[in-house]
Amino acid sequence: MPPIPGLAARRAATDLIGRVLDNGRPLDLELDAMAAQGAFRGLEPRDRALVRALVGTTLRRLGQIDHALSRLIDKPLPEKAARARAILRIGAAQLLFMDVPDHAAVSLAVDLAGEDRLGRPWKGLINGVLRGLARRRDEILQSQDPVRLNTPDWLLVRWIVAYGAERAQAIATMHAAEPTLDLSVKSDPAGWAQRLDGIVLPTGTVRRTAGGAVEQLDGFEDGAWWVQDAAAALPARLLGGVAGKRVADLCAAPGGKTAALALAGAKVTAVDISADRLKRLTQNLDRLKLTGVETVVADLMAWDPAEPYDAVLLDAPCSATGTIRRHPDVAYLKDEADVAALAATQAAILGRAADWVKAGGTLVYCTCSLEPEEGEAQIAAFLAAHPDYRRRPIEAEEIGGLAECITGDGDMRTLPCHLAAEDLRLGGLDGFFAARLVRVA
Ligand SMILES: C[S@@+](CC[C@H](N)C(=O)[O-])C[C@H]1O[C@@H](n2cnc3c(N)ncnc32)[C@H](O)[C@@H]1O
Repeated sequence: MPPIPGLAARRAATDLIGRVLDNGRPLDLELDAMAAQGAFRGLEPRDRALVRALVGTTLRRLGQIDHALSRLIDKPLPEKAARARAILRIGAAQLLFMDVPDHAAVSLAVDLAGEDRLGRPWKGLINGVLRGLARRRDEILQSQDPVRLNTPDWLLVRWIVAYGAERAQAIATMHAAEPTLDLSVKSDPAGWAQRLDGIVLPTGTVRRTAGGAVEQLDGFEDGAWWVQDAAAALPARLLGGVAGKRVADLCAAPGGKTAALALAGAKVTAVDISADRLKRLTQNLDRLKLTGVETVVADLMAWDPAEPYDAVLLDAPCSATGTIRRHPDVAYLKDEADVAALAATQAAILGRAADWVKAGGTLVYCTCSLEPEEGEAQIAAFLAAHPDYRRRPIEAEEIGGLAECITGDGDMRTLPCHLAAEDLRLGGLDGFFAARLVRVA
């Protein structure tokens, strides 16, 4: 029999959702693994994009999807129904939030269930529930509070405490939308914005709506730009003029910030614990034709440089809750304990990095987390313990005039609801914290 159109994409998406939500695997790693195993080989680029859209929508709207399904299923599905649950979630994502005809979403889910022994016993239930959902869609959606349902309680509570109820709501609202594609260009942002049908942000990043394969965009092969959220492009700038200076880029891979430093003419030492991720950094720099970077595979808890640097950038490992727009799995894979453990790691690495800056040199610390323990509190504790460091406040002009992103202490705090745009599809920023410190002589 010829393959049923669209079934392979649903199968891949269902596999991925199972691995992320049932096995706790990060989505990006699973996508890489699927590509490496050739599981995507039979899929057209259009179907690959569909897989990403199915998984992305399911994760962004998981709370609403599960709530809707619970309205149609009398008692919770047992553990052994994991495959059926994944099929139902992918089916519901299409019925509730995607532009897919109802009959296609339902029949593909039923076909998928019929394919394997774990799904087969649930075929009838899947059919009935998804048909019911198509019928009751409007009534169910109207009864829902998307922010409350789609945001795990521990995160919403934290953001209300840190930023207030209104901001927390605005942050969580941004997580439902597909994020923009942001590009750091080597030169001529206006020209690239025109060529790529995008806009230039006040920070100089070129932004366009997501969609399509990045590798096929004009300028990718020639190394004219690299993909980097507009907020992630800011911390490297805070080191000021780095041409000819020795700069350590700590926790460097996959190298978005390394590229900016190399482009600015720094002699960069890029250190990361992951050899695989550093390999990607090298590939990225090769594509961009950027030189002057030495890479070091090392654990920063064990590594020591031969001599101190003019400047150090530490993009510490963090809970990444500022990147939920781009990595919606983070909301489900991380928890309070991770925040505490990562904050301890950050403090330890920051403490070591403090010794690697020359007198008069600059240390920029940043994380892509919304949690104050990984940002503001980290710097308060550091400054209290290091009298040889002072904060050098960040000025709005250094970050494209985004005054709303500068804290009272002079640090940078970007939020997903910042840089709102009239066209919702062009707004938002990853949530980053950055502080600039100077080692006094
Ligand atoms: C937030 S990512 C860095 C992103 C990167 N700076 C960029 O702009 O593309 C954090 C990195 O820290 C690395 N890392 C985590 N623990 C480390 C350690 N103990 N020593 C060195 N690198 C570490 C991870 O491998 C990961 O690549």
